Amino acid sequence: MVKKALRLDRHGPPEPARSSTWPGAAAPLRRRRFVQGVGATAGLFAAPAILGGLRADAAAFNDPLFALGVASGDPGAHSVVLWTRLAPDPLNGGGMADAPVLVRWQVATDPGMAKVIRSGATIALPRNGHAVHVVAWGLPSDSWFYYRFKALGEFSRVGRTRTFPGRHDAVTQMRFATASCQDFRDGFYPAYRDMAEQELDFVVHVGDYIYENGPRGNPIAEGRNHVSEEVFTVEDYRDRYALYRLDANLQEAHARFPFIVTWDDHEVDNNYAGLIAEEDGPAQGEAFVERRRNAYRVYSETMPLRPANRQHGPVMRLFRRLRFGRLADIHVLDTRQFRSDQPAEDGFGSTDPDSLLAEPIVDETLFDDTGILDPSATMLGNQQERWLTRNLVRSRATWNILAQQVMLGQWNLTEAARLSTLAQLPPGMPPEQREEIDKILRRIDDIFNVDAWDGYMAPRRRLFNVLARVRPSNPVVLSGDIHSAWGINLLDDFANPNSDILAAEFVCTAISATFESLDPRPADVVVRASVLADNPQVEFFNGLFRGYCICDVDQTRWRTTYRAAGTLADVLNPDPLALVPFEDTPVETDSVLEIEAGFNAPGSGARLETKFSRIPLGV
Ligand SMILES: [Fe+2]
Repeated sequence: MVKKALRLDRHGPPEPARSSTWPGAAAPLRRRRFVQGVGATAGLFAAPAILGGLRADAAAFNDPLFALGVASGDPGAHSVVLWTRLAPDPLNGGGMADAPVLVRWQVATDPGMAKVIRSGATIALPRNGHAVHVVAWGLPSDSWFYYRFKALGEFSRVGRTRTFPGRHDAVTQMRFATASCQDFRDGFYPAYRDMAEQELDFVVHVGDYIYENGPRGNPIAEGRNHVSEEVFTVEDYRDRYALYRLDANLQEAHARFPFIVTWDDHEVDNNYAGLIAEEDGPAQGEAFVERRRNAYRVYSETMPLRPANRQHGPVMRLFRRLRFGRLADIHVLDTRQFRSDQPAEDGFGSTDPDSLLAEPIVDETLFDDTGILDPSATMLGNQQERWLTRNLVRSRATWNILAQQVMLGQWNLTEAARLSTLAQLPPGMPPEQREEIDKILRRIDDIFNVDAWDGYMAPRRRLFNVLARVRPSNPVVLSGDIHSAWGINLLDDFANPNSDILAAEFVCTAISATFESLDPRPADVVVRASVLADNPQVEFFNGLFRGYCICDVDQTRWRTTYRAAGTLADVLNPDPLALVPFEDTPVETDSVLEIEAGFNAPGSGARLETKFSRIPLGV
């Protein structure tokens, strides 16, 4: 039996030390960088002047009270959320006395904080972990600002943020980044270092901001590991978020740009659905309701969200709309909180009865056509689904952005499952037996990743019907979750490659989380094969690199640049850790995809176009 032919974004218990393949099992793994393009990367470290100012400020006010830095988020035309948390001992509950603390804040038009245009005071409360959320109101639209906090006589560093253009501002372009999946154990954040050096209007984070599991048995480097076991309580989650926020590159990105965040599963528990935990047994029921409430509470403490989107009771209304003038409506979705349970026992699933024969081979339930096609299934829940439809009907923006978690486009992974299953058969297996298994696998028409929209065919069809009927202006879907980079034409009918494109989807790769294993190359090979074999809707795929996306948008064109941590030399490097992002890993442009506005007009025949690619799909 071959366990789990292909496993994606499934972080189980901490890995045992794999001393047979990796030398020095007890010692942290260190990668030797064979190729160090010092000359080529020197420019990356030359920070722009304004950033230099912020960094200097961070050093000057390196006060332990504000060790977690500052952040801002959810800009409106005249307001923006400012955030900090008082935590001089961030990894041990925060270290504050059990008493409220007065916190003052200032917004200025200059990084030196000389020209203060708004200021105020608020109270940091022990029950919120001394987190501070301020909505700074009355700001001019479409403008940049600087802000800082003061508490107990200490200043925070200065952060930079902006308001969005108003409805009547003449706005012709925007530039922003998308990010997801930043497992602290799996790598460093050179992606955030690179992001902080860009000129961006904002950052969209589509989930897996933290991972909930315990430490890795064999860390990739000294100190790059979770420092506590799997998290359940409010205190656990607070310390876990603090560990991530202590990363200097992540902190810098937050200080430089407003973030628009939504969550996926790991902010609570891997692959949870609504109120159903991943694991059966005592983790379910009341225990999970409690766990989810704790996780949501700390998420709303930690993220720069508006009051309406923070926790009130057991439910959190995270879905919301932001408007970047008339250029874009940003519909932020939540595909976790209200979804029905995954079909096919939440692994991989198939609608083809032939998959029954393969179940003993892959040791997994595959066939579940009634589950995958269940018309009563939901991904968004009724209320959010109606809200999204209404938004799309009413939108007058040039672009309609759906910022959400799991891949919306179809990915039939049958060929990937076949190849990885064959690769895992015992080497001594007689060729006839191997051929028999191959024959069984070749008969299967479809296998899907059922945690993504592929496991929720009826809800996807409902959304596609809205896109086909309403034809909202230029819908673009931004996703993450799968730790690899994709560009997908969302076709009205995936079985018909000539059907209309209803929306474009850009899936950003993980900031640091592994694609299947620390060495993503084996998974990249089999997924590439499956894309070429069965998925003509996929314009671009690359599973080799961690990184993020930059979206350049104007009134006529959308351009997504896939930034990748790692070089082509890294791909050829035999070191199994060659593609793990380390602090000094260079970040380069891996691919550029474009689409022209008006692409979803009926019969347009438009498709995503690859303008540049270091590694074309067919290689
Ligand atoms: Fe993830």
